[in-house]
Amino acid sequence: MKVFILVALCLGVQCIGPEQVHIAFYTSPWDISVSWITFEDADSSLTYGTSTSSMQNLSGTTNTWHFGGITRHSHVVILKDLKPSKQYYYQIESRVFNFRTLPADLTTYKVCVFGDLGVYNGRSTQSIINNGIAGKFDFIVHIGDLAYDLHSNNGKLGDQYMNTLEPVISKIPYMVIAGNHENDNVNFTNFKNRFVMPPTGSDDNQFYSIDIGPVHWVGLSTEYYGFLEQYGNQSIFTQFDWLTENLEAANKNRGAVPWIAMYQHRPFYCSVEEGADCTLYENVILRHGALGIPGLEQEYIKNSVDIGFAGHMHAYERMWPVADLKYYKEEDAYHNPVAPVYILTGSAGCHSSGMKFSPIPMPWSAHRSDDYGYTVMTVANMTHIHFEQISIDKNGGVIDSVWVSKDIGHLHTEEMRMGKKGNAFY
Ligand SMILES: [Fe+2]
Repeated sequence: MKVFILVALCLGVQCIGPEQVHIAFYTSPWDISVSWITFEDADSSLTYGTSTSSMQNLSGTTNTWHFGGITRHSHVVILKDLKPSKQYYYQIESRVFNFRTLPADLTTYKVCVFGDLGVYNGRSTQSIINNGIAGKFDFIVHIGDLAYDLHSNNGKLGDQYMNTLEPVISKIPYMVIAGNHENDNVNFTNFKNRFVMPPTGSDDNQFYSIDIGPVHWVGLSTEYYGFLEQYGNQSIFTQFDWLTENLEAANKNRGAVPWIAMYQHRPFYCSVEEGADCTLYENVILRHGALGIPGLEQEYIKNSVDIGFAGHMHAYERMWPVADLKYYKEEDAYHNPVAPVYILTGSAGCHSSGMKFSPIPMPWSAHRSDDYGYTVMTVANMTHIHFEQISIDKNGGVIDSVWVSKDIGHLHTEEMRMGKKGNAFY
């Protein structure tokens, strides 16, 4: 085993040696990317194994990038074909970390999902760290707006954020998608260079998919829409074409992977005061499309997407099943839902406090709360998924929960929606 005697020495938030260590799923739950940053040119290799006494060396790649006058070296090593249900140790220079792989028969697991978590006012941070380390969820999905911002103070705030979360994100996979705050005006440079998401869609973490047990997960960029004027429309078309093919393939695989869960930063549905993203042009173009730009919602409807997570609005809101503004508020609405079920979970802890709901919820709103917190989703089996909203304001208490269930083979269709009639909102 190669032993490095260089000890990580931190001066303020910047360390000499590897820092900001985190892991993510790569092409499967048993392929893990390990990423870290150094400020000095360094070797991009680590040692790893199921025991600290028998570790093997593995080399990776380094990407050197410059932002705000600071040079950072992003290192990544891909650990492939790991054994299921095993504790793994990995060592980068003198720093040793560990994680546990998911079981081979992956029918049940837990996910922590949230958006909008910053360094300042990061109300959920300690709870996420504690519960993640305690094994209360198997991985994290952060649906955009990280650190507020990754690029602030020449990226030092991003460094601080990643170092703060390191105890948990070096131990359980941290999956991310970009929000509007990841736009650093140099085409999401900080977001692209700090993370390594599955290489199944774009090559820059903006959109991708991965199958994890009974769920086909898809992360998308809504920022292609939000920054259309700044960066042009080509990425919207590229993502849309990819999504069409991806969901088509996922539908052919429903026998093995029955659920499709999407995550994106900006919501289709929400009800907050001054929520232009809930109702006005920003929402219309994202959902419905406009001026030759394709919207996303019809793809979700057409392909019978089951679950959709979003953030951006700093609140929690669970919707009734809803498709193209028609909602299905009825007893048993979450069993064999006839439309996608959306959950807004953007209340983890934004740098600016306060977000007001509209005085009257939109009619598709089933439950809403402005408590700080995050969502824990439990995939129970092939037919049942449970959602709980954890409130930091109420000491980690559960303030909303719901089961979404469907029979084997259930896919929602236009025919079903016609049969239900639903409640139109026009
Ligand atoms: Fe946002």
